[in-house]
Amino acid sequence: DWSMSSFAEEKIKEIKELVGDKKVLLALSGGVDSSVVAMLVHKAIGKNLTCVFVDHGLLRKDEGDQVEEIFGKQFDLNLIRVNAKERFLGKLKGVSDPEQKRKIIGEEFVRVFEEESEKLGKMDFLAQGTIYPDVVESGTDTSAKIKTHHNTALPEDMAFELLEPLRELFKDEVRAVGEELGIPHHLVWRQPFPGPGLGIRVLGEVTEDKLHIVREADAILREEIALNGLEGSIWQYFACLPGIKSVGVMGDERTYAHAVGIRAVTSSDAMTSEWSRIPYEVLDTISRRIVNEVEGVNRILYDITSKPPSTIEWE
Ligand code: XMP
Repeated sequence: DWSMSSFAEEKIKEIKELVGDKKVLLALSGGVDSSVVAMLVHKAIGKNLTCVFVDHGLLRKDEGDQVEEIFGKQFDLNLIRVNAKERFLGKLKGVSDPEQKRKIIGEEFVRVFEEESEKLGKMDFLAQGTIYPDVVESGTDTSAKIKTHHNTALPEDMAFELLEPLRELFKDEVRAVGEELGIPHHLVWRQPFPGPGLGIRVLGEVTEDKLHIVREADAILREEIALNGLEGSIWQYFACLPGIKSVGVMGDERTYAHAVGIRAVTSSDAMTSEWSRIPYEVLDTISRRIVNEVEGVNRILYDITSKPPSTIEWE
């Protein structure tokens, strides 16, 4: 793609000029956006980039180890993994309002980065994978505020200058840049995952027990989508935990357990979406497997709303 290759070249040049021999700290989540930023900045300034990957305890199953493997070992990037689960869960304790949770997670991210930065000696810039829809939907642009995407909800007294090279791009453009930069295809085409992670997929108060349920259910869903060859045709698919308990029966026993929500949508830029027409047989397998394999679940709900009027995430 000519326009994206010239975009990459231009950005690399721009970053080089802006940063000079100063130091950049990158908030690497392992998602498409921050991975593309990592490669752009790495190409611009090499070893003056340090990537910090915060494992906030709100990641999907095995995700932390995968990120470490790919970016720490496969690519030659300076990578620091910070295990901050206790810290994030501590801050989220007793908090059930979605906007407040997003704010807490966003602030805690920056605090962790600032601390890592101090340990590393002064870092001048904080690079982030903010893309255009994040900017628009957080109401920092001209449109009304819908929800605060964590990476635009930064505290005002931050000690960094921001570097957000993807701020004008839509997701498909970010992917084209990623391909252009030689990032492996399977990484470039990974489904989006929100910064606040499972923290906004456990609705209401976040606890370790609820995180465990949603993480296991989500792993089963992803496995079945892959086994059935549906990965390429669905924009995003995940499990969430509405926090509803309902009555069921297992063997001769009454159960009173969680309902798990399944969300799968098609979209081209996450600004609008349609619910995905996953074949009934596949939904059936997903439903049976989650109820049988994940303790504490006795009911599965499939979300059949578009965006608008819904959003993709439930919080
Ligand atoms: P919504 O739920 O607003 O989501 O329809 C649109 C897209 O953005 C993702 N999303 C986020 N991404 N930080 C992110 O980096 C966030 O705080 C955040 N919240 C939502 C969501 O998964 C979907 O792809």
